[in-house]
Amino acid sequence: MSESIEKSQAERINEKHKRHIFDAVFNYYETPLPLQRGRGVHLYDFDGREYLDFFAGIVTVNVGHCHPKVTAAIQEQAATLTHVSTLYPTAPIVELAEKLAEITPGDLNQTFFTTSGTEANETAILLAQLATGAQTIVALRHGYSGRSAVARSLSGQAPWKMQPNQIASIVHAPAPYCYRCPFKLTYPECGIACAEDLEELIVTSTPGVIAGFLAETILGAGGFIVPPPEYFPIAVDIIRRHGGLFIADEVQTGFGRTGGVWFGIEHSGVEPDIITMAKGIGNGAPLGATVTRDELADEFGPGLSISTFGGNPLSSAAAIASISVIEEEGLLENATQAGAHLRQRLEEMKERFEVIGDVRGMGLMQAIELVKDRDTKEPAPDVALQMMEETKARGLLVGKGGLYGNVIRIGPPLNITTDQIDTGIEALVASFAALE
Ligand SMILES: Cc1ncc(COP(=O)(O)O)c(C=O)c1O
Repeated sequence: MSESIEKSQAERINEKHKRHIFDAVFNYYETPLPLQRGRGVHLYDFDGREYLDFFAGIVTVNVGHCHPKVTAAIQEQAATLTHVSTLYPTAPIVELAEKLAEITPGDLNQTFFTTSGTEANETAILLAQLATGAQTIVALRHGYSGRSAVARSLSGQAPWKMQPNQIASIVHAPAPYCYRCPFKLTYPECGIACAEDLEELIVTSTPGVIAGFLAETILGAGGFIVPPPEYFPIAVDIIRRHGGLFIADEVQTGFGRTGGVWFGIEHSGVEPDIITMAKGIGNGAPLGATVTRDELADEFGPGLSISTFGGNPLSSAAAIASISVIEEEGLLENATQAGAHLRQRLEEMKERFEVIGDVRGMGLMQAIELVKDRDTKEPAPDVALQMMEETKARGLLVGKGGLYGNVIRIGPPLNITTDQIDTGIEALVASFAALE
């Protein structure tokens, strides 16, 4: 028998990945896990083994894997029209744009479609600069904005930068990271010092007039860092006093992820000037969008800008179907209810396992931060790695993140049931117990 026949399909996939794909495109797990198919909240490997998916393709597959309505919409569109470029209007692109105008807060009526969150943020930065005539952008430490030169410069985590900031006109504000407060203060006595510091940052580190402030409403790759409720009202007031526009990056937090609302920023009562979105918009179909008010969109010119694939019929059809599933199945509400259940179960786990330093999140976007010692809060990235292996062995897939690699991220499809959450929790508890 030749060597290639003896190898399993999973082994062959792993070998080819290693041979032909940049190492930078890293996989989870010591032995990466090739996946063959998905259905609802479950994924299956090439041996037919079932996994409960607590990370949904990096908080993207909001209505579950291969939802029949999304699949049908893609199939129908694929048989009708797949690509004409943005040089011609299509029914899916205008229907989706109209829907986004309806579900976004305030008067956000105009959309520029692209194919990723990176490009959505690129578009937002350019728009803020064109509309205000200023250059400087304030971003957040611990943030993640994507992989282009602008997005890597916006990102506030060394590992994701790869190069020094290539865009000089970006400054970084302290993250609203209560568990590791940059000012060593405690909420609420802190007076939200991280938000108030924006004033000092702008008058000392910028020309005093800025183009905008880009912030994730929950810092996703940073480890699901949830700003305190007062943060955005204070921060955005300061930003606007210095001429800046507020860009809410909803790439992870959009489309119901945080529970009860379409976009995470709605919990704060602040209306953004620009929202960027991707991931959950099309349940996995490649699509990014930058949504803004009419008068701001009018400032995006007179130069030319095009995204050949932006809002292409296939991705737009997937997005329209996915949004209607969220509406029909009441998933904004389920994210609140199932999210509360998940949170309670995680808090119970924290009582039992000392290694859990913090539990935080909103809706179905919840994280546990692992530490070697609850007093010193020394990060425990080694435990996070072991937890990844232990949970995988028990048929549960979770995410990992945080600047220190010590945060377990949980963001399942929004139609997960409380029973399924309990199944995942049992696997987490057994995994922690195995490490003790
Ligand atoms: C908050 C946030 N913004 C932007 C991006 C970039 O999106 P993409 O990977 O689609 O370019 C990401 C990706 O993880 C993200 O989490």
